Amino acid sequence: MQKKRLLSGIKPTGSPHIGNYFGMMKQLVDMQGDYEVFAMVADYHALNTIQNADEMQKLTKEIVIDYLAVGLDPKKITLFKQSDITEHTELTWIFDNLVTVPFLQRAHAFKDAEAKGKEISVGVFNYPVLMAADILLYDTDVVPVGSDQKQHIEYTRDIAQKFNNVFEETFKLPTEKIIESVATVQGIDGRKMSKSYNNTIGIFDTDEEIKKKVMSIVTDSSGELPQNVYNIHKLFRNESELKPIYENLKGKYKDIKEKLAEDIINYFTPMKERREKFANNERLIKKVLKNGAKTASRIAKAKMDDVKTKIGVI
Ligand code: ADP
Ligand code: TRP
Repeated sequence: MQKKRLLSGIKPTGSPHIGNYFGMMKQLVDMQGDYEVFAMVADYHALNTIQNADEMQKLTKEIVIDYLAVGLDPKKITLFKQSDITEHTELTWIFDNLVTVPFLQRAHAFKDAEAKGKEISVGVFNYPVLMAADILLYDTDVVPVGSDQKQHIEYTRDIAQKFNNVFEETFKLPTEKIIESVATVQGIDGRKMSKSYNNTIGIFDTDEEIKKKVMSIVTDSSGELPQNVYNIHKLFRNESELKPIYENLKGKYKDIKEKLAEDIINYFTPMKERREKFANNERLIKKVLKNGAKTASRIAKAKMDDVKTKIGVI
């Protein structure tokens, strides 16, 4: 039986945190044997905020190393860079003519930016359309993401359906894969962990940084448990293991936090070691991206030929 195809992406905007890892990266690693996995570096999406060539180069290389360090095996999967496959932006333009401005104005990310009075670029406004192109070009079945991306996958399905209705049946409708227990990993302040909230614990942070951040988790002593600590701890141990730990250390928040820091450090140390081995291996990064681009390009080109035939430009 043919394997289902899975695709997800991450923007090269900084070192991944625990939310990125459990919400998305770990899913790709766990599924790489059973699915045909496409892991993308969404550099054109990152251009929304990263507007400096040296920084873009550096962050892109780092995210490739991060993908490898967490356990993605380039022999089993296709790891590629969005900008290497020009069909992504080409398809975006075609979709742009099928979606309306009010449809995109309903996007949470757009509404948030507008509510904050931010100056919104056309690239930010159009973000969901480029993301739909990323996914639909590859006849993707499944898109593993955290819950914040759910609306983007809904947009993707709507855009696919619109094209299929206006022209002919062309695009497969993908489904998001959101694992309930890690759909929204909490940050050290209790809000969703996010680079933009400055409340993250990085998976490649040093042991000292991890300890410091864990010690600063906001605790609320009103309940039975320090809930914010417990919610993060649940990612690393199952609840039956945690119960006796939290009972024995009841009220001793410092000790509980030390235990959590130790668990986080132990979990990520092998990945950190692997990362050190790969880091600065420019040849490896180039080779992985070159091979990835070859596979991705073959599929994207064939799909684009089909699309161009359907719309009547070839
Ligand atoms: P950030 O919000 O930190 O900038 P990204 O937007 O780069 O993170 O997200 C990359 C991937 O990680 C997406 O699939 C996203 O859903 C997932 N993700 C990000 N933050 C979390 C979180 N706190 N919990 C679960 N998944 C998350
Ligand atoms: N929007 C995603 C994020 O912010 C990144 C992304 C771009 C993506 N293209 C994608 C995720 C395609 C899944 C599929 O995290």
